[in-house]
Amino acid sequence: REIFVNGAAGIEPEVPVTFEELEEAALSVMAPEAADYVAGGAGSENTVARNGAAFDRWRIVPRFLRDVAERDLSVELFGERYDHPLLLAPIGIQSICHEEGELATARGAEDAGVPFVVSSVSSFTMEQVAEAMPETRKWFQLYWSSEREVARSFVERAEEAGYEAIVVTVDTPVPGWKERDLSRGYLPQLVDGEGMANYTSDDAFCDLLDAPPEENEFATVQTFFDVFGNPSLTWSDIEWLRTKTDLPIVVKGLLHPEDAREAVERGADGVIVSNHGGRQVDGAISAIEALPRIRDTLGDDVTVLFDSGIRRGAEVLKALALGADAVCLGRPYVYGLAVDGENGVREVCRNVLADLDLTMGLCGRTRAAGLDRSLLLDERNL
Ligand code: FNR
Repeated sequence: REIFVNGAAGIEPEVPVTFEELEEAALSVMAPEAADYVAGGAGSENTVARNGAAFDRWRIVPRFLRDVAERDLSVELFGERYDHPLLLAPIGIQSICHEEGELATARGAEDAGVPFVVSSVSSFTMEQVAEAMPETRKWFQLYWSSEREVARSFVERAEEAGYEAIVVTVDTPVPGWKERDLSRGYLPQLVDGEGMANYTSDDAFCDLLDAPPEENEFATVQTFFDVFGNPSLTWSDIEWLRTKTDLPIVVKGLLHPEDAREAVERGADGVIVSNHGGRQVDGAISAIEALPRIRDTLGDDVTVLFDSGIRRGAEVLKALALGADAVCLGRPYVYGLAVDGENGVREVCRNVLADLDLTMGLCGRTRAAGLDRSLLLDERNL
């Protein structure tokens, strides 16, 4: 409504409503290497494309004349009420999109009332980001480096700063083969230490990271890989983490139902079905194809979130219908950030939520928490 009221007064939205226009606008204001880093994926980017295309397999079947005047987007996650089923996915190094990076995202998220999952490799410290969103729920995403102590200290700092869940990303034991970045030799973390703000206090990597690259280039690159992912990580590390925090633990990046089952058996409270936006395994199953099997394996009681491919309300609706309790928005919000800072993040969030709200009403449904597969037809059965 606000968009139409403004339109009647001759004011067009500053942030494109259409995802494709938003992406184009964002990529055109970013440095070319940063634009490629954000938009790109692993290998041929087959999985990036599949993440979007695979949603088409499920067709929404609208229903009418069911009184949809009052609609409720709220959901329950880990026993807590959330106003709607949307969070902002952890995306590192947001200073390459906008100079205020995660601080602007936090303010935009706060304006829109959307929780933010803050990445380990953020451009500002987790404490600074938390301060920029005092009223909004925040979760912390952990990249488990080769030092357990770093993981432990990050979790303690996150608890102290008011984060309400720990998201452990497990789909990066080694880096993905990202051809656009390889073609440029571009790793944003190695440009002026971008994305390493959290690693500057008391951990083992600081000395190396502080060393001038020309003295120790190879060591610095190796150190970055050690920080970002730990190829030796196993399920027993999840059990260890379980003993270190009472916060909900959410394992992010699962696609196989047996991995999801194991995550819960080893102490996780929930999972995020995700293929990292197609950035890790080229040719991987799309996240939306993986979701129904994981929900079926875990049953109704485990919290399941979803990301990879959410662009509009219809995709949120399909993911909820296929078993997600909530979804994480990825690239669209950092495109909003690039185009118009905190306002851009806020507008993108509001548009996705408004779209979801209308789409739900057009399906004859009034509660996001009650969406199920009867809303959809599998095109293979049409
Ligand atoms: C990511 N993602 C990510 N995930 C994570 O756990 N920690 C991180 O630091 C990052 N960093 C990151 C940077 C960039 C530029 C992108 C695009 C993605 C993955 C992210 O959380 C999410 O899984 C994907 O973005 C979902 O895919 P879509 O919806 O963006 O295509």
